[in-house]
Amino acid sequence: MKSAPLNAHRSIDDIEIELFIAAVHQKYEYDFSRYAKASLKRRILSLTEAHKLAHISELIPLLLYDDDFISEILGYLSVQVSEMFRDPHVFKKLREIIVPMLATYPQINIWLAGCANGEEAYSLAILLKEEKLLERSNIYATDISHKALDIAREGIYSADNLECFERNYQLAGGSGAFSDYYVSKYNYIHLHPELKKNIFFTDHNLACDGVFCEANLVMCRNVMIYFDKELKNRCLSLFTDSLVPGGYLCIGTKEDISFTTAESHYKALTQHERLFQKRF
Ligand SMILES: C[S@@+](CC[C@H](N)C(=O)[O-])C[C@H]1O[C@@H](n2cnc3c(N)ncnc32)[C@H](O)[C@@H]1O
Repeated sequence: MKSAPLNAHRSIDDIEIELFIAAVHQKYEYDFSRYAKASLKRRILSLTEAHKLAHISELIPLLLYDDDFISEILGYLSVQVSEMFRDPHVFKKLREIIVPMLATYPQINIWLAGCANGEEAYSLAILLKEEKLLERSNIYATDISHKALDIAREGIYSADNLECFERNYQLAGGSGAFSDYYVSKYNYIHLHPELKKNIFFTDHNLACDGVFCEANLVMCRNVMIYFDKELKNRCLSLFTDSLVPGGYLCIGTKEDISFTTAESHYKALTQHERLFQKRF
């Protein structure tokens, strides 16, 4: 008589996903085991389909023997979508509430975790420049995706999104015109190099790396939404350890710190924009 499989309650897909995630971790040390399961599964299935493979486990030989495959995997497993002054009301509140407080420090350190292709870092640089604080600011913009970091360092974006960028900039309370900050070449906008001077784009993995810097402001928006509870708690405790007492935390508008281990360390400044201050 044939014995029942030990993991009969789990689908074959789930077993294959676990093997694939373990292979990614073992070869590259990228740990996706604590990302939210449903969206991770959706993404791995679409990677499998894109390669016209019948089974998820067939991704494993590609991963093991093709060194270029990892950047495609990272592109699928983590979403790099962003825009200049995304959620402009958040940047408006940052300008109105947080920036005057940051202005009291002789040097301002900002950790922007999960910076994707750099739009958020440049938006912040523009805001700080307009508030005459850019020269004494360091923006540490980090991500796991090397490909995204390379794009971020270039500071070149498709002009197809210009209308959205300009609208966001105005709604965010920009004091000039967005066109003050780029030159157009063909269908691209090239951000002014002076915006890059105080931004340091660096590789950092929130799933396994440590505290990054002593920060006055940590921004991490639309990143923890992909994580499970344990990984979200890990990130929040990294941010709490990084922030100076009284430092500020800005998370995504669909994210929350309620019911996390970090909750008691913060007081909410604005609920809608998800701005918090670390307690003294
Ligand atoms: C949707 S983008 C958010 C971009 C930007 N913060 C915004 O709100 O527009 C999510 C980013 O998080 C990054 N990311 C995912 N997992 C990460 C991890 N473990 N450590 C650091 N960054 C991560 C992805 O590579 C991606 O660039």
